[in-house]
Amino acid sequence: MTQTQKIPLLDFVLCLSEAVDLISAEVADHHKRTAQICYGLGRRIGLPDEELRDLVIAAALHDVGGLTRADRLSALEFEYQNPYGHSVMGYLLLRPFIPFSRIANIVRFHHVTWNDGVGRTFAGEEVPMLSHLLQLADRVAILIDPTTDVLIQVDGILEKIQAQMGTRFVPEYVNALLEMRTLEYFWLDSIYMKDLATLGRKLDFNEIALDDEEFFGLTNIFRRIIDFRSPFTATHSAGVSAVAGKLGELIGFSAQDRNVIILAGLLHDLGKLAVPAEILEKPGRLTEEEFDIVKRHTYYTYHLLEPLKIMDVIRQWGAFHHERLNGKGYPFHVTEIDMPMGSRVVAVADVFTALTEDRPYRKGLPLTDAYQIIWEMVTQKNLDPSVAQVLGENLEMVDLARVNAQDAAVREYQDFNMLAKQLTHEEE
Ligand SMILES: [Fe+2]
Ligand SMILES: [Fe+2]
Ligand SMILES: [Fe+2]
Repeated sequence: MTQTQKIPLLDFVLCLSEAVDLISAEVADHHKRTAQICYGLGRRIGLPDEELRDLVIAAALHDVGGLTRADRLSALEFEYQNPYGHSVMGYLLLRPFIPFSRIANIVRFHHVTWNDGVGRTFAGEEVPMLSHLLQLADRVAILIDPTTDVLIQVDGILEKIQAQMGTRFVPEYVNALLEMRTLEYFWLDSIYMKDLATLGRKLDFNEIALDDEEFFGLTNIFRRIIDFRSPFTATHSAGVSAVAGKLGELIGFSAQDRNVIILAGLLHDLGKLAVPAEILEKPGRLTEEEFDIVKRHTYYTYHLLEPLKIMDVIRQWGAFHHERLNGKGYPFHVTEIDMPMGSRVVAVADVFTALTEDRPYRKGLPLTDAYQIIWEMVTQKNLDPSVAQVLGENLEMVDLARVNAQDAAVREYQDFNMLAKQLTHEEE
């Protein structure tokens, strides 16, 4: 039987938005700032609440397809050259989740220039007007220098925007912005943003009811955003989730706990969004500094999911996957006493998947070699012996679950890339 639960969708959006802005200090708050400006502008031009909600969510996620640090930094240049790649990626990442389909479309066209009305359509598709509004807000956001007083910057910002009225931006929207020149609160809001949850309350975001399958669909959006950033990780979370689910089943987890562990597997590396793709893809050994950056990821998995109450167990099981029973893991140094069974399973699933999966630069290890390494980790009190034993007794069955899941994820990743290339090409 599928259960239905109420999901605070906005909180999920905020969590993702926060995650993608962690990639570097330079882009910190960019999504929040853009959303805040969208809200002010949208109110000014009298958008109905429903459109305003879509706009704010789209703004909070608009650069989610900027996968590398270089991508994200270039999005901060006022005039920048190749904007369609990341817009298309964002669109394709968000689109599979039905409640996000309109939002995905807004994201897709957020860099289309107005071009005196030609920009109503693009590559044969209708461009939502909200994309144009988002573009304006996005450009205002990048012109704001958060390190100095914002009110003193207003005239300079407006001058730059006005210079591209009609060519880049919709005149009506620019006029709305110009009317806000003297409204200090609007500009101060863009700096003193508090958090977007405040905006959410003003916009009265309703919780949406999702059944198990739809909830899985939402989590899968997260998984794709985490994994598809790099061919090195493209199928990793799918593998960990399948292995953890299988181990949970063999250990005798209840149906509900099996669900939880599958979701924990999908989300365990959420914090990797804060690790630049350049580091994830580095061939060879990481420097100490780079490894320190990688080490952040479980910390962020833990804290990013914190505001989502329904994720409490999922996040604990997922975020402790680099903790070790002897206390020598990271980042919390959880020990045997505090390490839940679910976390022990995810830890084993993560090591097993990492050892056996193929990477672009190397083949996965044979099963017996991988298991030998895992057993050594058990003897050093890194991993749980009972979980490792269940794995050892069912090595082939567990591996089959991994291979099937990762094969499916590879196909999904290839389709995704093909489509991305095709659409980006059309839009250039
Ligand atoms: Fe962008
Ligand atoms: Fe990890
Ligand atoms: Fe992992």
